[in-house]
Amino acid sequence: MGHKVAVYGASGHTGRFVLAELEKRGFEPWPFGRAQAAADDPVALDRALTGAAAVVNTAGPFAVTAAPLVAAAERAGIPYVDVAAEIEANADTFARGAAVPVVPAMAFFGGLADLLVTAAMADWPAADEAHVAYGLSGWQPTPGTLAAGAVSRDRRGGRRVRFHDGRLEYHDTPPPVLTWEFPSGPREVIGEFSMADVVTVPSHLAIPSVTSYMSVTAARGLAAAGAREEPETFEVDVVVRRGGEERRACVAGRDIYAVSAPLAVEAVQRLLTGRFRVTGVASAGAMFDAADFLQSLSDVIPATRCS
Ligand SMILES: NC(=O)c1ccc[n+]([C@@H]2O[C@H](COP(=O)([O-])OP(=O)(O)OC[C@H]3O[C@@H](n4cnc5c(N)ncnc54)[C@H](OP(=O)(O)O)[C@@H]3O)[C@@H](O)[C@H]2O)c1
Repeated sequence: MGHKVAVYGASGHTGRFVLAELEKRGFEPWPFGRAQAAADDPVALDRALTGAAAVVNTAGPFAVTAAPLVAAAERAGIPYVDVAAEIEANADTFARGAAVPVVPAMAFFGGLADLLVTAAMADWPAADEAHVAYGLSGWQPTPGTLAAGAVSRDRRGGRRVRFHDGRLEYHDTPPPVLTWEFPSGPREVIGEFSMADVVTVPSHLAIPSVTSYMSVTAARGLAAAGAREEPETFEVDVVVRRGGEERRACVAGRDIYAVSAPLAVEAVQRLLTGRFRVTGVASAGAMFDAADFLQSLSDVIPATRCS
């Protein structure tokens, strides 16, 4: 049997996918949550992590859970991975640093785009701008996503956030609606959509402008928020520009929650087999070989030909 890997928030929709993926890869999944160890109970957290080789945090709001779980991972001397897509919580994790390998946003939002942008950059040391377009067929968010989104919005006073001129900018400008040419065809998207990519990408790449776009159908689904019945399909289209040059990377797949599990568990596997670059906090693209990481997940997140 492989390493024991603790999963916080294991009762949740995403936590259950992570448990299954760990099992599939021969790890010993170790589910726990606030019933066994509240985030503000360091003694219980230490007890829960005894004997674990790594911890995956899938319990949002991460404004509440990330800092105490990272601290517990440091005391245990084990790597930490989370799936947070909360811009402020992610920024806090980067700002705090860590004495062990820590990968925030190691999931569909935040982590995947960072891998794609890093892979598209290849040998470019810098670029002028990066664009990340999400072509989701819809989005039926889980209660955890809605709770995390509410906390995040509260923390920024309901304002929107973008990365411009090399810094995070909070603003109230109405979002533009435009048409994005995805590999599958054109879709209406909301521009300057507040997304974790504005933290993960600039955390390690010299790109002064990072913009995310979200298909209008998905943004409407997020706002309507019913039960999660039918998993969405997705395409993620990344463009980086430098001077007159452009590079792209595109992937497609199904179920943004389900694919977050192989993303997080692939990270764990690499952290436990010495295939990482930073002992401290780093986004997916900085921590791992981005192109190799994406290639290893090509069965669930296949690359597509960019239009
Ligand atoms: N970046 C991405 O692409 C991505 C992908 C998937 C998920 N996520 C994020 O991951 C989080 C979980 O999503 P989900 O789909 O699994 O939601 P979910 O099904 O609603 O599950 C939420 C989980 O969080 C736990 N939890 C809630 N508040 C907690 C607290 N104060 N302390 C400890 N545990 C707490 C719940 O525990 P109980 O059972 O005790 O209520 C449950 O295990 C959300 O923030 C979501 O946005 C991000």
